Amino acid sequence: MEKLISLAKRRGFIYQGSEIYGGLAGTYDYGPLGIALKNNIKNLWWRMFVDGRDDMYGMDAAILMNARVWETTGHVAGFADPLVECTKCKRRFRSDHLEDKTKCPECGGALGPERQFNMMLSTKVGATEDSSATSYLRPETAQGMFVNFKNVVDSFHPKLPFGLGQIGKAFRNEITPRDFIFRLRELEQMEIEYFVKENDWQRAFEEWRVAMNAWLELVGIDRARTHEVEIAPEDLAHYSKRTIDFEFDYPFGQKELYGLAYRTNFDLSRHAEASKVDLSYFEEATGERTVPHVIEPSFGVDRTLLAVLLSAYTEDEMGGETRTYLKLHPRVAPIKAAVSPLLKNKPELVEKARAVYAMLKQEVPQIMWDDNGNVGKRYRRQDEIGTPFCIVIDFDTLGENPELLDTVTVRDRDTGTQQRLPVSELTNYLKTAIL
Ligand code: GAP
Repeated sequence: MEKLISLAKRRGFIYQGSEIYGGLAGTYDYGPLGIALKNNIKNLWWRMFVDGRDDMYGMDAAILMNARVWETTGHVAGFADPLVECTKCKRRFRSDHLEDKTKCPECGGALGPERQFNMMLSTKVGATEDSSATSYLRPETAQGMFVNFKNVVDSFHPKLPFGLGQIGKAFRNEITPRDFIFRLRELEQMEIEYFVKENDWQRAFEEWRVAMNAWLELVGIDRARTHEVEIAPEDLAHYSKRTIDFEFDYPFGQKELYGLAYRTNFDLSRHAEASKVDLSYFEEATGERTVPHVIEPSFGVDRTLLAVLLSAYTEDEMGGETRTYLKLHPRVAPIKAAVSPLLKNKPELVEKARAVYAMLKQEVPQIMWDDNGNVGKRYRRQDEIGTPFCIVIDFDTLGENPELLDTVTVRDRDTGTQQRLPVSELTNYLKTAIL
């Protein structure tokens, strides 16, 4: 984990939030390569689960919502974790994470009584300071979809089953943020609320379980390190009748990656009752009016990124040296190819390489120009950030060997082997690799 955190910082993937001020616990900032990887993951998810399906509608709800939303869902009263405080050093812990609930794991002092700590972050909206101005930063993106159920039905008249999908930030005042980007206070989620008839929930649940497995494969998470865990009835969230957690073997243990929950019609029914707005669904074919039930596949963006990076992190030997590389699938790699002249002090090579770079950049924008150091060093640097291909323009490209005119070397990150390809085939080669 330490090696990955160090690589992520050194190479511009992930920095500690507000670092120059000593940081802010539970927040991290994504650097140039981190945001590229994150955007690739989010775009892939959107393509697979929203644009790629006929039964899904995308949306983007506000982070700030009317406080009544969270009163209705039970979050104000019950979105809490058990907290204990050390009577000596005053440090706070999540008691369900402690083996010995009587002794402080830091200083050995006695722990005080357990109490429930609400994890919602609140803020004031508007120019007044009274309690009516209280609002919460959403702790899940899900509710933005439930409160827009009627809007989407009125605009699009979808037939059941259909779903809403959303990607966005969520906030939780975690008692002990930890393990890099695993447990954050500001996090991002990719969530789906899939509306079904009650008698169809088991089929839909199974369909989404399979789809979530297909996603793990697509994004490049090591399947040997994932587990499906059926949550015991006594441990289910208050809104759920069945939940499967998808867990991953992180270096700090097997822990949650994603969740798949059957939320019944809890949310729509509660919102309908509290808002007095009819949130039922009328099926013309049968003349039936019901409140749909919901299957919710929920994916953390940051945990996806962490699992993808951990799955990709590889050390091997190449040319008698140890090398570190990220074996990212080209479809998520932040840089798809690096283009460079064999020698940077030969203007004719540089000019040709610049022309190849400009041509590729138009069609596959995540391309990097790299002419620092010698070619061997460039390869190592690109390996470390997961660039699948390094394209080098040499004297043969210029026609020193006439048979190789306008061809370049393309080096494969994982094997280190090179092949020669005509410049005219490069765009298609890359586009096919990143599909
Ligand atoms: N709408 C359902 C829901 O929010 P959850 O299990 O509390 O369920 C869903 O969260 C996903 O969000 C988790 O599986 C995880 O990937 C991510 N997640 C939750 N809390 C997180 C945190 N503090 N830091 C990073 N990711 C988190």
